[in-house]
This record gives sequence, structure tokens and C-alpha cells, in this order.
Amino acid sequence: IIRRVKPPVRAPNEEDKIKKDIQEIQDFKSDSIAEIEEFRIKFLGKKGLLNSYFVEFKSLDSTEKKNAGRLLNELKNLAQDKVEALKASSSKSSENIKINDISRPGDPINIGSRHPISVVKNRIIDIFSNIGFTISEGPEIEDDWHNFSALNLPEHHPARDMQDTFFIEKNPDFLLRTHTSSVQVRYMENNKPPIRTISPGRVYRNEAISARSHCFFHQIEGLCIDKDVSFADLKQTLEYFTTQLFGKSKIRLRPSYFPFTEPSAEVDVYWGLNNETDYKMTKGTGWLEIMGCGMVDPNVLENCKIDPNEYSGFAFGLGIDRIALLLHQIDDIRLLSENDVRFLDQFKSSF
Ligand code: DAH
Repeated sequence: IIRRVKPPVRAPNEEDKIKKDIQEIQDFKSDSIAEIEEFRIKFLGKKGLLNSYFVEFKSLDSTEKKNAGRLLNELKNLAQDKVEALKASSSKSSENIKINDISRPGDPINIGSRHPISVVKNRIIDIFSNIGFTISEGPEIEDDWHNFSALNLPEHHPARDMQDTFFIEKNPDFLLRTHTSSVQVRYMENNKPPIRTISPGRVYRNEAISARSHCFFHQIEGLCIDKDVSFADLKQTLEYFTTQLFGKSKIRLRPSYFPFTEPSAEVDVYWGLNNETDYKMTKGTGWLEIMGCGMVDPNVLENCKIDPNEYSGFAFGLGIDRIALLLHQIDDIRLLSENDVRFLDQFKSSF
């Protein structure tokens, strides 16, 4: 009788050993970098267990190789995954230790700064609030009546071309307001005199964008309606304003034309010619144009149901962007809408 010789007992033993190793890998836990490294060397190092198994693997016959190969690969993957996972979690927990360390100095917080437009706007609001003006606002998408017709600019009036308008494509009865004078109308429609209000806001015009002009900018409209309001009151108010904002009280009113005021004027403030910057800013004249103004046209009062025989008033409109550019010597209006933090950071001290 030929008895079949059993294969060497080595293979099943090896298999058991590997299974035990797998168990050991699965059970291993640590967040100590040194212990994890020790574990890695034990299994995955050059002289580690895996390499020694692979050496033995070579002497197995092909049926044994199939099974052992699968197990060894499983062991290798498990060990590698484990080391990576433990390393990741241990570095996280060491970060946690850092964060919870209350004696650690705080990280610097980068506080923002107010936008130069807001700085100037708030300053102007303060100045007029001090003499009894309220703040009013209106919509940026306006109808024809409030932006044009009520302001004495009927359809086909040539002065409409003074302001290149963005119309709403689907409904041209609506447009992006071209000036904050529209808020005057809304305010007069909803309030009885005496009226003293200023209306800050964004306005839009269909203009090519360049260093000098933009398709949107900001204005402040002023309106004062009462019995016996005169041109002298207007001038007095403007002198007060320029003294407060620029520290300069000398102004001049140049005759001008606006459909909603009669008479109308352009306001220049005397800046002076004390240094090279003054020469540059004022183009050598010493005078700077800062706003438009006038006595509210009786037609506008009537359109807003205010009796022009009983009441009169003045209005003015100024560009906030322009004043911000002047005050901060900024030579490109586009900087005001780009929101580049390096630009904005420079205004930290201006409020
Ligand atoms: N609405 C004018 C503009 O956009 C500015 C203006 C001029 C407003 C004279 C006024 C005013 O109230 O009286 O250019």
C-alpha cells in the first residue's frame, strides 16, 4: 500500500500565524507617533514580518501560493492602511492639543475697514443730520415718472440725453435711476412740508468705464421745502456744508441748467493754491466743482401735489465718489468698485 504523504505542516501553521497577525493589526491602537512607527517597522520595515513571509512564500508550491498570496496581500494592505490612518488621526489630535492650549498666543485677526464711499457718505449724513435733515431712500429700479417726468423732464425733452439711461429691456417703462433726484419726488409725494431730507444712494448711467467715469456711482440728494425758503438759505446751507466737510467756507455759485430747478447753479469750493497738489486738483484755478443745486422748479412742486404759491424750496445733488476721490487723492474711479483689499486696507484710519 502506498500511503500518500501529507504535505509539510508548515503551510497551515503559517496561515494561522498570518491570521493572528491580521488580528493584531486590526486591534492595534495608538496616537503616539513613536508607537506607530514601531508598529510600522514591525510589519512593513525592511526586516519586518511581511518581508520575511514573502521570502518563505517563494518556497511554497503553486496551490499553497494561491491561498498564502491572498492572505499576505491582505496583511500588507491592512498594515499600510492602519499606519496611515493612525498617523493622520494622531496629527489631528496633536493639533487639538495646540488649539486647546489656552496659554498659546492668539492668531492675529484681520479686521476690515470701511469703504471710502461709506466713510464720505456717513460724514455727509452727519453734517446734514446736525441741522435737522432726515435720511430717505428710494428704489434703484425706477419708473419714468419718478426719474424723469415728475422732475420736469417730459418725454422727448432734450435734457433726458444729459443722462445716458439703462432701460429694463423687457419693460422700458422701468429703468435704473440715473440720479437720486428721483427720491425727492417720492419724498414729496409722501410727506408734507416742512421737508428737510437727504437721500444717499447708487445711481447708474450707460457710460464707458474709464479712470474718470463708471456706469454706476453714488450721489446724495438734498431737499428743503418750507414757507419762504430762499436762495440765500441755499447758499447758507452750502457754506455750512463745505466748511464742515472740507474746512473751507469760500464758495461760488455759477449759473447752470437743471430741468428740476430754477434758477440752477453749479457749486465750486475755493480749495486754494498752496502746493503742487492744489494746482493739480484745481487745474491751476484754485476752485473745485463739487455739486449742482437750485430752487425747486414750481412744476416739480405741483407734480408732487405741493402748492408752489405757498411753499418754496431748494435742492442739491452731489457725487460721493467724486468727493472720495478728491479727499483721498485717488486718481482712478475704478478702484472704488474693484474691492481690492490692498486698496481698501489703506483707509483703516479714516473713520
Ligand atoms: N440730479 C443731478 C445729476 O444727477 C444733480 C442735481 C443737480 C440734483 C441740481 C439737484 C439739483 O437736486 O438741484 O446730475
